[in-house]
Amino acid sequence: MSSVKITISCLVVAAHLLTINFATAIAEVTVNGVANVVANEKELSQARKNQLTHIVKQDCGSCHGMTLKGGLGPALLPENLAGKSVLFLQHSILYGRTGTAMPPWQSLLTEQEALWISQQLKAGEIVKP
Ligand code: HEC
Repeated sequence: MSSVKITISCLVVAAHLLTINFATAIAEVTVNGVANVVANEKELSQARKNQLTHIVKQDCGSCHGMTLKGGLGPALLPENLAGKSVLFLQHSILYGRTGTAMPPWQSLLTEQEALWISQQLKAGEIVKP
């Protein structure tokens, strides 16, 4: 009797191990898939970066001020954005702020471009003295 029990519990353990291996395999595939997407994303070209800088000064500047010191919209200088994360700023740019004048830019800017702009704003690279 007891040997039957042991055999059964061995089978159960083996089945468990198989399940775990299977789950790990799937997780690896997913991770690799994501890694590939990120790796395939090309760096923005210098020409596009120049365009984006122009867009921020002209279009965003119409509300935030040509020198980003504020106007209808708040100032977007590094000292104003210090406590705010790049992802938070990227989100504000892509989706706008409901109930405020800040419009969504997702039809004009990609996620990568909005992220780049956020990084440049926080670094003070768009408007230099
Ligand atoms: C029509 C006016 C307008 C335009 C154009 C505009 N914004 Fe704004 N933006 C605002 C306003 C108003 C706010 C403040 C919203 C609030 O009260 O939360 C804001 C908020 C923001 C914030 C969040 C700032 C913070 O301190 O949290 C960022 C970042 C931002 N804008 C970036 C941009 C960028 C980049 C562009 C151009 C691609 C742009 N905005 C164009 C009006 C504008």
